[in-house]
Amino acid sequence: MTTPIYDFIQKYASSGTLRCHMPGHKGIAPEGGTKELYSGDITEISGADSLFEADDIIAESERNMASLYGTAATVYSAGGSTLCIQAMLTIMKQEKRRIIAVRNVHRSFLNTAALLDLDVEWILPRYTGGILSGEIEISAVEEKLRSCEEPACLYVTSPDYTGRLADIKGLSAVCRRYGARLIVDNAHGAHLGFFEESLHPIALGADMCCDSAHKMLPALTGAAMLHTSRQEYASLLKPAMSLFASTSPSYPVMVSLDLCNKYIAGEIRRDIAENLVHLSRFRESFSGRLEFADSEPFHITVRASESGYDGAELAELLRKNGVECEYADSELIVLLSSPFFRPEDYARLSEALEKSLASAGRYEKNIRSFSMKLPEKAMRIREAVFSTTEDIDVENSEGRICGAVRVPCPPAVPIAASGEIIDRNCINIFKSYGISTVNVVK
Ligand SMILES: Cc1ncc(COP(=O)(O)O)c(C=O)c1O
Repeated sequence: MTTPIYDFIQKYASSGTLRCHMPGHKGIAPEGGTKELYSGDITEISGADSLFEADDIIAESERNMASLYGTAATVYSAGGSTLCIQAMLTIMKQEKRRIIAVRNVHRSFLNTAALLDLDVEWILPRYTGGILSGEIEISAVEEKLRSCEEPACLYVTSPDYTGRLADIKGLSAVCRRYGARLIVDNAHGAHLGFFEESLHPIALGADMCCDSAHKMLPALTGAAMLHTSRQEYASLLKPAMSLFASTSPSYPVMVSLDLCNKYIAGEIRRDIAENLVHLSRFRESFSGRLEFADSEPFHITVRASESGYDGAELAELLRKNGVECEYADSELIVLLSSPFFRPEDYARLSEALEKSLASAGRYEKNIRSFSMKLPEKAMRIREAVFSTTEDIDVENSEGRICGAVRVPCPPAVPIAASGEIIDRNCINIFKSYGISTVNVVK
């Protein structure tokens, strides 16, 4: 597999050329800076191509990625999945599609809805992991699509923050029946294409999806890709992305995507197969003591409260024992592995978890139960987000219109979305997540 962006930058960095161009560091690391990072950080000089008008090394690298994922087209993002989500929804808006979204969306979806003035119709999942996770019922999707008079688009998050996978095959079949597009936030699933049988959304029938390479592959933060299975969308991806993106995308981030191609073409399948063995042994060694959520294997999601522990306390103990979690609340802990995890990492994790469990408090086993119902809508998302707002105590927010969704990141999933009227039910859920202040329209 070729690595054209990496090769170009290596050659340029060692050429000794005087850099009479941006960036201002001129390829020299300031004291304390990493030498290779600065020498490889360039701008769109001759031969370096240009992300949003790519026809040379970046285009070649993107074609490499497309062939590895089996897509009609794949384009790079140096602005994370957030930028890809903005682009996917822009294309849906250009097609005048009705946006139907399953509620456990990431904040980047809501921000995009505000920027594009999208009017979102929500489907509630059957919640199983607090507000973060739930089962998407095909029948609920079908009912919504059937009642939709205009062309539609279904937006789902899979894997969700706890690693739970939606039935993408089933959802894509329903979408096809109703002429709807299936858009998947696969930010947590860049590795899913390289299991023995692909679990990647594009392989399972999605029309477009985003992958945060930086979450599950050995890529730098900000590295992501936007895939489509539809040839007619290929030329729309970059113009849609460039509406929101910096005109100076990071070359180190693009190099990290370029090098992912080499890793994917080379070792990833072996690494995934080996990790799956360790992951399964790891879960088995705690069976009977810890409940694990139904997730794709690399998200080790411990149902702490259901196992008789407090998740936040357990995360603090893990920290003291040298392990930092991806996410923890009283109910859940998400420990994120990746194909880059090594056998000794599982041994360290096991040891730290054993130690933490030995000193953790024991509590009555319980499952957080709440009934989520959609709050009443008072205004469009955009109108609420661009209104004058104020932060108030959650306790005083009943009846007020939600302004910006400021749920902490992670999980960054809405309890009340912008423009909705905060009700007593929302207040109880806010409080159960330790959220004490909300932003409301003045
Ligand atoms: C489910 C989900 N979607 C989208 C995003 C945004 O991804 P990025 O940080 O790559 O922009 C995140 C970030 O955590 C996420 O968890």
